[in-house]
Amino acid sequence: MKKVLSGIQPSGQLTLGNYIGAMQNFVKLQNDHECYFMVVDLHAITVPQDPAALREQSEAVATLYVAAGIDPAKANIFMQSHVRGHAELGWLLTTLSYMGELERMTQFKDKSAGKESIGTGLFVYPALMAADILIYNADLVPVGDDQKQHLELTRDLAGRFNSRYGDYFTVPEPYIPKIGARVMSLDDASKKMSKSNPNPGSFIALLDPPDVVRKKISRATTDSGREVKFDPADKPEVSNLLSIYSHCAGLSIEQIEAKYEGQGYGAFKKDLAEVVVSVLEPLQQRYREIRESGEIHNILRQGAERAAAVADQTVRDVKERMGFLLP
Ligand code: TYM
Repeated sequence: MKKVLSGIQPSGQLTLGNYIGAMQNFVKLQNDHECYFMVVDLHAITVPQDPAALREQSEAVATLYVAAGIDPAKANIFMQSHVRGHAELGWLLTTLSYMGELERMTQFKDKSAGKESIGTGLFVYPALMAADILIYNADLVPVGDDQKQHLELTRDLAGRFNSRYGDYFTVPEPYIPKIGARVMSLDDASKKMSKSNPNPGSFIALLDPPDVVRKKISRATTDSGREVKFDPADKPEVSNLLSIYSHCAGLSIEQIEAKYEGQGYGAFKKDLAEVVVSVLEPLQQRYREIRESGEIHNILRQGAERAAAVADQTVRDVKERMGFLLP
């Protein structure tokens, strides 16, 4: 069975972008792959986090995994920090990485732009991400478009290790949705929908109540035309809404275009809100049930135990190849 790994940061509210770009594929891949899905808390602390908020968000993201349909009987769900090998392999791979390649990472450039002091963790973050993936020798990494560059670096680091110390790591492939790989902001289709955007109207959080979702979609920016047509160059806002519709309703773009031919944006947006609510409402119901039951702690414990068995062996193999004296 091919192996799949991915992770989401517990650094704010998860959005529909995380769901469409990544989580939907986690759910899809779990049926015929050996899966590792983490909450990447060690990544979240590369920018300052309030401790209480980090703990709450970590539990929330793990719970959302299960609420979104990831089945702990099929996939390993765990906290990154519960499997110590991630930090250890992260360091080993950091020593294989170059300043120049880390400086080129657009996420680093975006997050450090205009800052007086830039955290070192933010800079070496992609080496930790590479460790996350390589530690399970993952074949596939389901992510949104913005993580493609980090995946390239992971592939480079795997290749560098293999050529220096002998073939060991699987060189992973990104697994990116054809439509929805980059869900855009509702207020500005030139920006990615992001949980860190200070304007909450720009994103739909997975835990937004239905009426908030309806309001946000009715206020979403559109162009001055009225044709519901997928044309990212000329109609980026409507195209973004169409891709959200397509994912949430399970319809093709063509089917949706045909449905709204000659109807204008009003009817389209009204239905889109209901389509999104129809996905989020049951997810939120399951979320509340799982939070109340407290079962997530057991799920995380079991997931971490299984993951650690694989991760510990990889760290041992890597250290042996690199010339460490083993205990
Ligand atoms: P993060 O937490 O920023 O995002 C989690 C996942 O959601 C995707 N995503 C989106 N996809 C489409 N449209 C959007 N607007 C959107 N916003 C976010 C991201 O591409 C990502 O797949 N570095 C990673 C976390 C990570 C990781 C890993 C991922 C750490 N280790 C190992 C894969 C494998 C990150 O910051 O994702």
